[in-house]
Amino acid sequence: MDDLRFMLLYGVLAGVLFASFRKAVYDRKVANVPIVGSSRFLASCWDGFRFIRHAPEVIQRGYDLYPEGIFRVARLFRWEYVVCGPKLIKDIAGAPEHAVSFAEGVEETVQAKFTMGRELAENNYHLDLVRTTLTRNLHNCFPDVRDEIICAFDDVLQLQGSGAEQLIFAPLISNKNKSNAKAMEILGPLIEERLAKEAELGPDWPGRPNDFISWMLNVADEDQKAVLPLTLRILSINMAAIHTSSAAFTQALFDLTTHPEYLLPMREEVEHVVAEEGWSKAALNSMVKIDSFLRESQRLNTNGSLGMTRKVIAKEGFRFSDGTVLPCGSYLAAALRPTHYDESKYENAAKFDGFRFARERAEHQAAHEFNDSQDVFKRQMISTAVDHLPFGTGRHACPVNGRFFAATELKAMMAHLVLNYDVKPEVEGARPADIVFGQTVRLTGIYLQVGNRVIGLTLN
Ligand code: HEM
Repeated sequence: MDDLRFMLLYGVLAGVLFASFRKAVYDRKVANVPIVGSSRFLASCWDGFRFIRHAPEVIQRGYDLYPEGIFRVARLFRWEYVVCGPKLIKDIAGAPEHAVSFAEGVEETVQAKFTMGRELAENNYHLDLVRTTLTRNLHNCFPDVRDEIICAFDDVLQLQGSGAEQLIFAPLISNKNKSNAKAMEILGPLIEERLAKEAELGPDWPGRPNDFISWMLNVADEDQKAVLPLTLRILSINMAAIHTSSAAFTQALFDLTTHPEYLLPMREEVEHVVAEEGWSKAALNSMVKIDSFLRESQRLNTNGSLGMTRKVIAKEGFRFSDGTVLPCGSYLAAALRPTHYDESKYENAAKFDGFRFARERAEHQAAHEFNDSQDVFKRQMISTAVDHLPFGTGRHACPVNGRFFAATELKAMMAHLVLNYDVKPEVEGARPADIVFGQTVRLTGIYLQVGNRVIGLTLN
C-alpha cells in the first residue's frame, strides 16, 4: 500500500511539473489575459497548490482587479480563466455548445468516464427526462415528496455525502465499483421486478408507477434496460439533484440557527398559508418569506468560488464581446462567489438579509403589477440572473424542472421544519465554517438541537 501511495505521489509531482511546463508554453498564446499570481514556471506550480486551500481569496483578488474582465489563475495542471461581470457572463450563458462546451467542462470536474462509466458520459437520455417528463409530473409528485419529508424528519435526520476523487488516477482510487454494488443492492430488486412486469405486460400495465424508472423504460434502448445501466442513471441524477439540494438545505439550516429571529415570521407565514390553502405545491408559491430566505442562503453560500465551468472546443477559439479570445482547449468559469458578494449588485452584500428578496418582490409587484410574464418569477428562488448564479444562467442553467423540483422540496422541508420544531445550534451563535477544497466548498459536520433532539449533520 505504501508503495502504491509513493507511486501516486511521484506520479502527481511529475504530472504537476510537466503540466507547469505546458502552462508556461501555453502562456505565450494568451499573453493578453492577465494572471493573478505568477506566470513563472515554479511559482505557478506553487500557485496551483495554493489554489487548493485559498481559492476564494485568489478569485476575490482577481475580481477586485478585473470586475468586468477576464483573468486567469494557475491550477495544478492547467490555467483556469475566470470571467467577471454581467456582460461577459452573458457571453458564456449564450455560447453555443459546439464552441464552449458545458459537457466537457463538467467532464473535467466529474471525470464521469471513470467515476460513472463511459456509456453514461456519452449518452445522456436521463438528463433529457429531467428537462421534459419531470415538469409534467411535478404536481403529481408533490404528495410523495411531502410524505417522504414527514417520514425523514420523524426518523433520525442524517445527511451524508461522499466526495468523488477527481485525479487522473481515478480508476485506481475511485470507489465507483463499491458504490455501484451498494446502489444495485438497494435498487436491484425493484428494477428487476419492474423489468419482469414490462416483459410480461408491456409498457401500459394498470398501476404502473409514475416514477423515474418508468420514464427511463419509456425511452431507453433495449440493451440499456437492465439493472446496472438503470441504476447508474439514477445515481447520476442523484448527483445533480441530491448533493446540491442537501447542501442548500444544510446551509439554510446553518443560517436559521445563526439568525433564529427568522423562525417565527416564517412559522406564521406557513400557518397562515396552510390554513388558507392546505399542503399543496401551489400553496408553496404563497410562502414568499420561506422562498426569500432560501434564495438569500443560496446567494451567500455558494458551492464554490466558481460556477458555470466550461471548455472551449471550437478550433478557432471563443471570442468574448470585449474582444478577448480564449483558444481551443481553455477551461473557463464565472466568478460566482465574488458576484454574489458585490456591493454594486446587492446592498450590504455580505450581510444575511433573509427577507431581502421578499421585499424586492413586493416593491417590484407594486411598481409593475407583474404585467410581463417573466416578471412573475423575478427574485423568486427559481429565477436565475447574471448576478444570481446558484443554478447557473442561460443555455445550460439547471433545467427549469430541476429548479422547480429543488424549490418545491426545499420549501416544503423548511416549511415543515419551522412549523414543527424549534432550532438552535450546539454552540450558540457559531456558524460552522465551510471547508475549501479548490473551487469547491464542503460543509463541516455539526450537531443541531431540534426541540429536545440532537440531529447530526455530517455532510463532508
Ligand atoms: C438546490 C438545488 C440545485 C442546485 C443549486 C443546482 C445547481 C445546478 C447548476 C449550478 C448546474 C450547472 C449550471 C451551469 O453550469 O450553467 C445544474 C445543472 C443541472 N441540474 Fe441542477 N441544481 C439543483 C437541483 C437539481 C435537481 C433537483 C435536479 C433534477 C431533478 C437537477 C438537474 C440538473 C441537470 C440535469 C443539470 C444539467 C443541465 C444541462 O445538461 O444543461 N438539479 N444544476
